[in-house]
Amino acid sequence: MTNDFAKHPADETSTALLASAGLRYGLVDTSNREDFAAWFQADSRGFHGPAMSTEQVDSSFAGVTYRRTVGVWDDRLVAPEVPVATTSSWTEQLTVPGGRSIDAWAISSVTVSPTHRRRGIARSLLEGELRSAAEMGVPMAMLTVSESTIYGRFGFGPAVFAADLTIDTTRATLTSAERRGRLQPVSATDFTSGAPEMFDRIRLSTPGQIAGWPLRWDQIAGLAPGDEDYTKKTRIVQFDDDSGTPRGYVVYRVTGGGLDFTNHKLTVDYLLAETPEAYEALWRYILEVDLVREVRAELRSVDEPLLWHLTDRRAVSQAPIDHLWLRILDVVASLSSRSYAGHARIGFDVSDALGFAEGRFLLETNDSGVPRVTKVDAFDAETALLALTVNELSSLYLGGVTASSLVAAGRVTEVTEGASIIVERTFHSPVTPWLSIWF
Ligand SMILES: CC(C)(COP(=O)(O)OP(=O)(O)OC[C@H]1O[C@@H](n2cnc3c(N)ncnc32)[C@H](O)[C@@H]1OP(=O)(O)O)[C@@H](O)C(=O)NCCC(=O)NCCS
Repeated sequence: MTNDFAKHPADETSTALLASAGLRYGLVDTSNREDFAAWFQADSRGFHGPAMSTEQVDSSFAGVTYRRTVGVWDDRLVAPEVPVATTSSWTEQLTVPGGRSIDAWAISSVTVSPTHRRRGIARSLLEGELRSAAEMGVPMAMLTVSESTIYGRFGFGPAVFAADLTIDTTRATLTSAERRGRLQPVSATDFTSGAPEMFDRIRLSTPGQIAGWPLRWDQIAGLAPGDEDYTKKTRIVQFDDDSGTPRGYVVYRVTGGGLDFTNHKLTVDYLLAETPEAYEALWRYILEVDLVREVRAELRSVDEPLLWHLTDRRAVSQAPIDHLWLRILDVVASLSSRSYAGHARIGFDVSDALGFAEGRFLLETNDSGVPRVTKVDAFDAETALLALTVNELSSLYLGGVTASSLVAAGRVTEVTEGASIIVERTFHSPVTPWLSIWF
């Protein structure tokens, strides 16, 4: 991965807009440790986090300074070197249907100091990010969100959902009793040397997964400084198949218990399985740990196979959330980059308040689902036509959202009768989209 994107200059429109409010908008020189540290403190403060220790700054300095790091400064303040707003962004690989990935502009660390809130700073940051990504030719922007009320106004739509699972271990018995392979406790460094390659071998099979950055494995394993309690409690178990090859890991913590020693809670922080056998064995292990009454697992798929392994599905409570939001910037490039389920001729009349995706687009797919996308002036009578905003097109993109729901909710207009069914059939992803991390 080259990181030329990191040097792409600050957006001129946002620079001028913020300057008119007495604010300075620009890139942080991430090779300068002091400038990066000040930005990083502002980022943490923006999410109500603690002051960052020297070790945390050092770890992030090594791990995330490849990103395009943006700040807004108010030079009238007592500490003018600390930005009053932050964002960071980079070109990330997003898996799309068809077993491939595309460039997507990942946006993270969007914060505005509470002292400067609600005066349009976040709008300047977000619109600046979208214009910069479009100038660089990145066809799609994406983010994971703290609140689902913020980003619709910038053209983003929820495209990947995730579920937080709470499992009552007294009811959670697996249907099969067969045990194969071998489980073993491993160290955090064993995990960080095996998991990244394992993840890379499987990430293209699930739309919505991103390639990610190396430091996140340290964070999952409890090796990154900052949360000593997490580090101390983290346990990791590896599954090896019958030939002795590692095929999966589960990272977890056991807490609580109190006076009733049988009442512990187990939190699954990450479960990575390369094969169905590893998946079943690791979940069996987790559900059978002694002295645990409740298992919690965050950010699991909304189509988690675990439920089909259990004799009692109601042992699991699922709380779904919107997780990954997408924002198409280039309709032709985005729609051309995934594959589809068979032959279709679909028209999208797209409106986009920010202009990037505005227009009429014809998607023709052949029997093998290979697309041809063109911008057109008008549609013929053979075309199944939907009228929608870029938000809804972005939600539909990965095949995890159904067009008929959006039509029923009045979010999409079915110009040609039956068009939503055709879109649904054509866009359908055989694997439910899922993203297993925050960014
Ligand atoms: C969310 C946050 C970045 C907004 O910054 P801000 O500078 O106050 O936002 P702006 O003034 O530019 O507001 C832009 C628009 O978003 C709306 N908005 C801002 N924050 C919002 C929120 N939390 N919920 C709903 N709408 C919000 C504003 O009303 C405004 O709407 P409009 O322009 O359509 O009238 C800021 O409150 C913050 O840092 N929050 C804590 C960290 C966080 O949650 N970041 C998001 C990470 S995904």
